[in-house]
Order: sequence, then structure tokens, then C-alpha cells
Amino acid sequence: MTVHSLFPTLVYAAPLLQRGDAREFNRQLVLECRQLRLDDAGGRRWSRKNYPGGYTSYGSVHRLQTVSPTFESLRRKLERHIAAFASAVEWDLTGRELAMTDCWVNIMPRHTVHSLHLHPNSTLSGTYYVQVPPGSPGLKFEDPRLDRFMAAPPRKTSAGREARPWVTFPAAAGQLLLFESWLRHEVAPNPVKTERISISFNYHWL
Ligand code: NI
Repeated sequence: MTVHSLFPTLVYAAPLLQRGDAREFNRQLVLECRQLRLDDAGGRRWSRKNYPGGYTSYGSVHRLQTVSPTFESLRRKLERHIAAFASAVEWDLTGRELAMTDCWVNIMPRHTVHSLHLHPNSTLSGTYYVQVPPGSPGLKFEDPRLDRFMAAPPRKTSAGREARPWVTFPAAAGQLLLFESWLRHEVAPNPVKTERISISFNYHWL
């Protein structure tokens, strides 16, 4: 007898840099993220309505790879990870390639929350963690089949990670998470005073 496991949902986790640590790179990113918040009045306005307490450039400066050499450097550092994820998912990209379409900043002070969402009009999405104070939340993924479970009993509280309806990946500075854009995810409220800073991005196959 064999019980097969089909239709996996892949989440890719890795440190951004192959060698050394990302502290110097992250210091520069923190400076730019904070400067952007100061400069971006439209983004602060957008965030007041859509990201209470926090700041995101998602609604204003959302192609940072095209305006900042530091973010362009992040895009280049992501390349090998994007290729590795595409290979793991076994996408056939013949004649096309995955290109970064959007890249934006998220700053979460205490109590800011990022509610459940997915990334429409995208193929691959991900987040790079720049500053993650101890005690601040990870990234919580939801089983994409949840709306089809109908009469399925709940899973045991002792269920393995593969069988759970929600799985939270811890966030850590210098770390990266990649996933397919249809996978719903959220970030719980940041309970600590120090700001949690991350950079999110979308790729499309063009
Ligand atoms: Ni997201």
C-alpha cells in the first residue's frame, strides 16, 4: 500500500547571501526605507488608509528596483534564488523569463498588521527581511484548498506541518521567502516597539 502526496505548495526559504552576512547591506536598506518614508507623502497618505500605523510604498513607489541602485542590487542578488524556485516548481519558461515587476517597502511599527491577502497579476512573490526585532511576527501561509474542504474534519493539533491549514515561517533579518503569488498569507500585529522592516516583490513571466 502506498499513500501518495500530490499537488505540493512550495515555499522557498534561504539566506539572501551565499557567503558572509547581510548586515552591511541591510544597514543601507534600512536607511533608504526610512528616507523613502520621509520623502513619500503620497505613500504615507496611502498607508494611513490601507496600512494603519505602518508605512508601505506599495501604493506609491512600487518599482524601487528602477529608482534605487541599492534595490537594483537586491534584484540582482535575488536572481539565483528566483531561478532555484522556478526549477523546484518545474515551471516551463521556454522563450520567456521571470522578471521583477514590483518591489516595495513595508515598515511595521508596534500594532501594525498585514491582513490576509494574495498578490494578483503576478506569478512569483516574496519578501526579504531587513530588520526583524525579537518577538516580531513571521509570515503565516494558508492552505490554498481551505475553501474546498467542506466536510473535512479539523486536523489534529499534533498534525505535522504538511497537514496543517496554516503554517507560520519565522522572519529573520537577511532571510528570504519565495512562494507562488496565489498563496494567501498574512502578518500578525507586531507586538514589539521596534519597527519590523521588509521588502516585498512580485515577478511575472514575460
Ligand atoms: Ni504579501
